[in-house]
Amino acid sequence: MKFFIDTANVDEIRTAASWGVLDGVTTNPSLIAIEKRNYKETVKEICDITPGAVSAEVLATDYDGMVSEAREWTQVAENVVVKVPIIPDGIKAVKTLSQEGIKTNVTLVFNVTQAILAAKAGATYVSPFVGRIDDIGGDGMYVVEEILTAFANYGFETEVIVASVRHVRHVVESLEMGADIATIPFKVLKQLFKHPLTDIGIERFLADYKAALGD
Ligand code: E4P
Repeated sequence: MKFFIDTANVDEIRTAASWGVLDGVTTNPSLIAIEKRNYKETVKEICDITPGAVSAEVLATDYDGMVSEAREWTQVAENVVVKVPIIPDGIKAVKTLSQEGIKTNVTLVFNVTQAILAAKAGATYVSPFVGRIDDIGGDGMYVVEEILTAFANYGFETEVIVASVRHVRHVVESLEMGADIATIPFKVLKQLFKHPLTDIGIERFLADYKAALGD
């Protein structure tokens, strides 16, 4: 499974990239807003940090606006993927963009029918938001399972990005289900390293060594 990081913070992206386990980045307008920086400059800098796919979302919500923003994004860097919301104009735009060879990530997906529409339009990626589904009492990971099954049943090549990841369990279940990608906030990415026995083990090894052999 590929690990993307879900942030627009370049320090977090640099750190994750330095670990050698980063396959890509997803941003959205809210994440860009947190950084209070120019949108295009920020995405360009992110694209320079990682050769992986970097999702940048359109701000327009009409077909013409989305297509024209998407074409502009392709001029920013080769690895930009254009994020488009799952609305009728969005799907129409994805169809046009896929015919032009522009990669797309269909976002704000909350059920399998939305995911199938994205795949039929030729989306490169589809992003079910598992945390937001859980927030309203649903089962986000079950929706991912339904999408993976439907895509396998019909041979769609659209990759599934598990998005709105809130905790390590979301990542573990994504691995069990065979999701293509999880886009993970920096906080959760750091938690993937963690186990109390690892910390205790390091402490004990060093203490044993020091007790027997000194510094
Ligand atoms: C995915 O592409 C989105 O940027 C993101 O995962 C949304 O997550 P949130 O529900 O934590 O805002």
